[in-house]
Amino acid sequence: MNIIQDTLLKWFDANRRDLPWRHNPTPYEVWLSEVILQQTRVSQGMDYYLRFIERWPTVVDLAEASEEEVLKMWQGLGYYSRARNLHHCAQQVTSEHKGQFPPDYEKLKQLKGIGDYTAAAIASIAFNLPHAVVDGNVYRVLARLYDIDTPININEGQKLFAQLAEDLLNRKQPGLHNQALMEFGALHCTPKNPNCLLCPLQAQCLAFTHQTVMQRPVKLQKVKVTTRYFNYLVIKTNGCIYLHKRSDNDIWKNLYDFPCIESEQPMSVEEVIATEKFKQIIENKPFTIIKTSPVFIHKLTHRTILAQFIEIKLEKKLLRIETKDLFLTPETDLGDFPIPRLIDLYLNN
Ligand code: ADE
Ligand code: SF4
Repeated sequence: MNIIQDTLLKWFDANRRDLPWRHNPTPYEVWLSEVILQQTRVSQGMDYYLRFIERWPTVVDLAEASEEEVLKMWQGLGYYSRARNLHHCAQQVTSEHKGQFPPDYEKLKQLKGIGDYTAAAIASIAFNLPHAVVDGNVYRVLARLYDIDTPININEGQKLFAQLAEDLLNRKQPGLHNQALMEFGALHCTPKNPNCLLCPLQAQCLAFTHQTVMQRPVKLQKVKVTTRYFNYLVIKTNGCIYLHKRSDNDIWKNLYDFPCIESEQPMSVEEVIATEKFKQIIENKPFTIIKTSPVFIHKLTHRTILAQFIEIKLEKKLLRIETKDLFLTPETDLGDFPIPRLIDLYLNN
């Protein structure tokens, strides 16, 4: 006997929500509810689920619907490839499995849109096969019970949590166990207000003992990588080149590069030349474009820079008073200035 398993089942028996897909569900109903619940919360998912089941009571009925009807029914849930996969999967089950979901984890996974989670949910809940589900609720409950600080969103964490879930699985009642674990996470061991003081697993919970409950699970913060487009003007005249010292609170502070026209979208050379900033920099003087570089892709921690270099020849130097912002220097002196790696790559390729 495993005390955590037994406690979970007892808790589930007393606290489970009465949901429409929990009344002796067919595999089709389990599948449908799980796919919908990956897209929305239970309260909203219920309406969608009931409308789907009323309109298409079996997987064969769903297979025979038009894709457009299915998309229409899905409307509001977003991520429409899920709806197309749902329809496609229904057709696969109908044509390849005689309208019956296969009672086999690997075969389930071969169906469109069914991954580890959905296959384990169907296998266990519909067929009582011993496969552990791992969803967001399960990550949280396991991370707290075992006080795991490995991030849940790196490979190592995913492997570890999948193994912990398998180890904890109640092999006699895998379907009930999985639902109990998910439901416990959804209702009791919640992200913000876990009810630790009245928790039947308090004595087993390592995070409770170590007072790390609110720090579990650990999620590695993935910084959003933004893309910036740098259109560099490499302006040359009589063996000299214009340089720019980067001074503001941006990347590469105090390094040297070229005058730059940054844009939010990729720009063609023609578009760059047509900008006010370009005209201003070269003072509306006649110029010749010597060459344009291919796009350099430069990856930094927080951003990706896509840079193109437009080499421009001027007959005479600019009239402007030279500042650190923009000054002329002999090309042979370029090596004296600290430059970002991107500029170095351009100059030396
Ligand atoms: N969330 C998604 N599927 C669930 C299930 N079968 N039981 C409880 N919560 C869930
Ligand atoms: Fe979750 Fe708190 Fe119970 Fe631990 S003691 S399982 S953190 S509710």
